[in-house]
Amino acid sequence: MSALPARARIVEVGPRDGLQNEAVALDIDTRLELVRRLMDCGLRDIEAGAFVSPRRVPNMAGSGDLARRLPAPEGVHFPCLVPNDTGLDAALAAGCRDIAVFTAVSETFSQRNTACSVAESLQRLSGVARRALDAGVRVRGYLSCVATCPYEGPVAAERVADLAQRLMDMGCYEVSLGDTTGTGTPEQIRRLFDLVSRRVPTDRLAGHFHDTWGMGVANVYAALLSGVSVFDASVGGLGGCPFAPGASGNVATEDVVYMLSGAGIETGVALDELVDTACWISARLGRPPASRVARAHRGSGRIG
Ligand code: HMG
Ligand code: MG
Repeated sequence: MSALPARARIVEVGPRDGLQNEAVALDIDTRLELVRRLMDCGLRDIEAGAFVSPRRVPNMAGSGDLARRLPAPEGVHFPCLVPNDTGLDAALAAGCRDIAVFTAVSETFSQRNTACSVAESLQRLSGVARRALDAGVRVRGYLSCVATCPYEGPVAAERVADLAQRLMDMGCYEVSLGDTTGTGTPEQIRRLFDLVSRRVPTDRLAGHFHDTWGMGVANVYAALLSGVSVFDASVGGLGGCPFAPGASGNVATEDVVYMLSGAGIETGVALDELVDTACWISARLGRPPASRVARAHRGSGRIG
């Protein structure tokens, strides 16, 4: 078991994973305003959009227009999802310097999510990654269903490790292990990361936990104990995955920041501003923030 790190990096996925599955589709100005507010909170990795079929994921339509209008400050990264060459063409045309490719551990989820088998997706993505790297674009990798598949149930941890390594071999700088269904429990997550880290070093792994079963923060802590220090999270606990029925949003960024700060782990993220942003975006979506920290913080009278 590793000692806790002094710093953790948070990859804010609210503008993509969060908004992709909300009932209300936001216009580009509001999506950009969200990105700007998240930057002002101190976040430096903000997943901004997805170059996927607008018929399949209508809320991510216009990601090219959004990417063209993103600011370009030093040290801030705005990865966007890219599933195939069509998506990469659009991302490059919009000036993206960071992409994220994605596949899954489970065959049924892969078919439902990207209309191809896992093997086909790896073949597609290796071509996408090669072209992106040749163009000087950074490539992140995602693996979905690392704890369970919404259609097939339990998955084999060895397969997670194998596929994580395949994504690294393509040239991804980091692989994010996605508990898409949010069913994972801390001990399972710790064992999974320990196993995967025999193939991929922990400083190249990230944890991506959906909070459907309320295990998100505990799973972040479990992965920390395995030596992982990069975590995906979504402001206000927004979202879910349209192809994982019943899955709710990612673990809320403010819940993760609060927990990490209590452990003395620096994130560079200002909690007050983050809660303010969670309340603002949730109001735009017509609902209260899903996160416990935002509700407690508001209840304490510190945020209006
Ligand atoms: P397909 O149906 O196999 O594509 O889609 P196709 O090549 O047969 O083309 C069909 C139509 O899609 C054509 O248009 C193409 O031009 C168009 P039509 O002629 O019918 O008008 N098309 C595209 N349009 C825009 N962008 C593209 C693109 N590619 C083809 N890139 C595809 C394949 C993957 C595109 C499709 O199945 C798709 O978009 N799926 C949605 C994937 C998605 O966004 N899922 C949610 C994100 S993943 C996630 O949330 C999990 C994660 O958070 C981690 C975790 O939690 O586990 C990352
Ligand atoms: Mg996700």
